Amino acid sequence: MENLDWKNLGFGYRDTDYNVRCYYRNGKWGELELSSSNQISMHMGATCLHYGQEAFEGLKAYRGKDGKIRVFRIKDNALRMQSSARGILMAELPVEKFEEAVFLAIRMNSHFVPPYESGASLYIRPLLIGTGPQIGVKPADEYLFIVFVMPVGPYFKAGFKPTDYVIYRQYDRAAPLGTGNIKVGGNYAASLVAGTRAHHEGYSAVLYLDAREKKYLDECGPANFFGIKGNAYITPKSDSILPSITNKSLQQLALDMGMTVEQRRIPVEELAEFSEAGACGTAAVLSPVRSVYDADVDKRYFYGDEPGPVSLKLYQKLINIQYGCEPDPHAWVSVVL
Ligand SMILES: Cc1ncc(COP(=O)(O)O)c(C=O)c1O
Repeated sequence: MENLDWKNLGFGYRDTDYNVRCYYRNGKWGELELSSSNQISMHMGATCLHYGQEAFEGLKAYRGKDGKIRVFRIKDNALRMQSSARGILMAELPVEKFEEAVFLAIRMNSHFVPPYESGASLYIRPLLIGTGPQIGVKPADEYLFIVFVMPVGPYFKAGFKPTDYVIYRQYDRAAPLGTGNIKVGGNYAASLVAGTRAHHEGYSAVLYLDAREKKYLDECGPANFFGIKGNAYITPKSDSILPSITNKSLQQLALDMGMTVEQRRIPVEELAEFSEAGACGTAAVLSPVRSVYDADVDKRYFYGDEPGPVSLKLYQKLINIQYGCEPDPHAWVSVVL
């Protein structure tokens, strides 16, 4: 195992030994290739540079108490990348190829998978880009798929500690019928100004409202949102948010615990009715919301300095399944090594 300060990793880029690449040329995908370089060379007219033909994924591998390395719901990430590819007319990568590439990247860098006790994990970044040149606005005829990995700690510095969110109505990350429901780079470029402002003002992330009416909750920067009301887990239904695999899993766990699940439009004022709120995603896992400040109307919704009991239970259950400490009744986990 590498000699790293596993407990204080943070969420940042770090080189590891190998990445896996696959090229799409002449209408078909080639074989997987291993590379030890962190550089790529491409045509200056590549469509990913000009017209945003770029999609990515994020998933994690976890080393369990038993020493085994597991990945969580990998097929869902493969399918979501296909959906992103269809959304911006890129070549779709077969699910098996995606899975094979991710497994190979983990195996070749297995000494970077953090030890169980550290609570850290190996973040996996699959990337799909248009590499063929076009100068008219057209899809490329060549693509590159890359998987690289790195050990990471918590996405939000506080870890499993409630943090503050903010609503600003003057920014959208995606249009109502745009690309918010797929994982393409443009959405993240569009979120940088608001996200950076939120950080400067002391918030973890922006809680976006729906772009059309600014009436309903959408999502929290790089994570989905949920609220707890009575025995219900309530999460936004919207065409402009990313279908989060973590959120889907938490909904199932909430049902398993005897809660009800409501996926529907959530008016912003309903924030006042939740006993707990959270942000959820692969990187954020479940990150409790301490407060939401609606900056435009100067109103603050407060949930608590400590995680609420439902969030705590859902979080524990989820990470226990991911680390292989509890049975996996929905077959979400694959053992890699
Ligand atoms: C905009 C956005 N929403 C939600 C999520 C959470 O999705 P998942 O749980 O699949 O990681 C992510 C991260 O992937 C994201 O980038």
